[in-house]
Amino acid sequence: MNILVTGGAGFIGSHTVVSLVEAGFNPVIVDDFSNSEPSVLSGLKKIVGREVSCHVLDCNNYPAMRQILRDEKIAGVIHFAAFKAVGESMQEPLAYYRNNLGSLLTLVDAMLAEGISNLIFSSSCTVYGEPDTSPVTEQTPIKPAASVYGNTKQVGEEILRDVSAVKPLKSLSLRYFNPIGAHPSALIGELPRGVPSNLVPFVTQTAAGLRESLTIFGNDYPTPDGTCIRDFIHIMDLAEAHVAALQYALNKSESSFYDTFNLGTGQGNTVLELVKTFEKVSGKPLPYSIGPRREGDVVAVWADVKNRANYSAGKPGVRSRKRLRMPGAGSSVYRLYLRHDEPHRKSRSPGQRGVRPLHYRRRGERGGLCTGCCFAWPESRTYREDRFCC
Ligand code: UD1
Repeated sequence: MNILVTGGAGFIGSHTVVSLVEAGFNPVIVDDFSNSEPSVLSGLKKIVGREVSCHVLDCNNYPAMRQILRDEKIAGVIHFAAFKAVGESMQEPLAYYRNNLGSLLTLVDAMLAEGISNLIFSSSCTVYGEPDTSPVTEQTPIKPAASVYGNTKQVGEEILRDVSAVKPLKSLSLRYFNPIGAHPSALIGELPRGVPSNLVPFVTQTAAGLRESLTIFGNDYPTPDGTCIRDFIHIMDLAEAHVAALQYALNKSESSFYDTFNLGTGQGNTVLELVKTFEKVSGKPLPYSIGPRREGDVVAVWADVKNRANYSAGKPGVRSRKRLRMPGAGSSVYRLYLRHDEPHRKSRSPGQRGVRPLHYRRRGERGGLCTGCCFAWPESRTYREDRFCC
């Protein structure tokens, strides 16, 4: 079954392409490479063992989108293509509204015209704005968005809800918390163009020597260490949740429906905890300084995952603990950046070079990262391969 993946060369898109292939689907990518590297396609080819079809295209191109939907005999669409930098969205609101909402309108129009009903929409926990309390459930009231980026996701969800109410559209909005990490092969990962705006690629690029120092945006928030709290979810969990969501939509007998799902781990960690954890796992200090707050940032948000049991019974959501066994984000992302940074790599000895991948940790060691969610396994507790904090 052919599935169109817009933004399929991007961070979440490329990992979802892998999960789609593993689940027996045939993904077809549409990407304009405005914030991704064409080299992702060769990484994908190595991972899945064959070429993945890719159309280089802006999703706002209605005639071309219709033609691809028709020619490729598409059965469902996962729509990732969007701008996603919170800070930039405050400076370039028009570009964000045009790109994020224009492409969604174009896509839905084209899908309806071609009689394609299954749509998974890449939304964000940012729709909750600054929630009164965390964890947030899908029923937590939507607040005014804290950023233009957030508003594009809120309006995007409203568009799908309203269209699904009257047209043959089966749509699901997946509200991501903060995806991090990389495929265990390290052949794909988070490779934004230019200076990363998200935390983890900035951390890994700083560790790899591509950036001088990380700036932590604010340490005067009302949190235990003053830095913002986020729910960092492993990218492969997120990718597989998309496949589950797609199957959920495909299996629904109704001709139209709209639903939303949170995709998080249920655990909040501060930005400083993430940095300290990265230092601990890599075994070397990460240069960082504290800067002013970033406009549009919410203080704290993490997911309620009480519905996890329901999710595993066929709904999209976080995977069971057992299936979370994979190398952690710190290791595989870091290796990816070293691979893309040859001169830097050559100047270092192998011993200095890498972060010890998590799966090389020995049983009985203290501290480290949880294999599931990539966050700190406390020093006070002994690491066991079969233990998770998430
Ligand atoms: C937001 C959304 C998330 C979405 C993402 C897309 C919220 C709560 N989350 O993530 O759902 O997937 O946008 O981009 O709105 N930080 C630094 N220094 C840096 C970079 C980031 O301190 O160089 C801090 C930020 O201030 C923030 C945290 O790290 O507190 C995470 O930032 P980022 O990785 O950009 O993601 P969010 O903005 O939380």
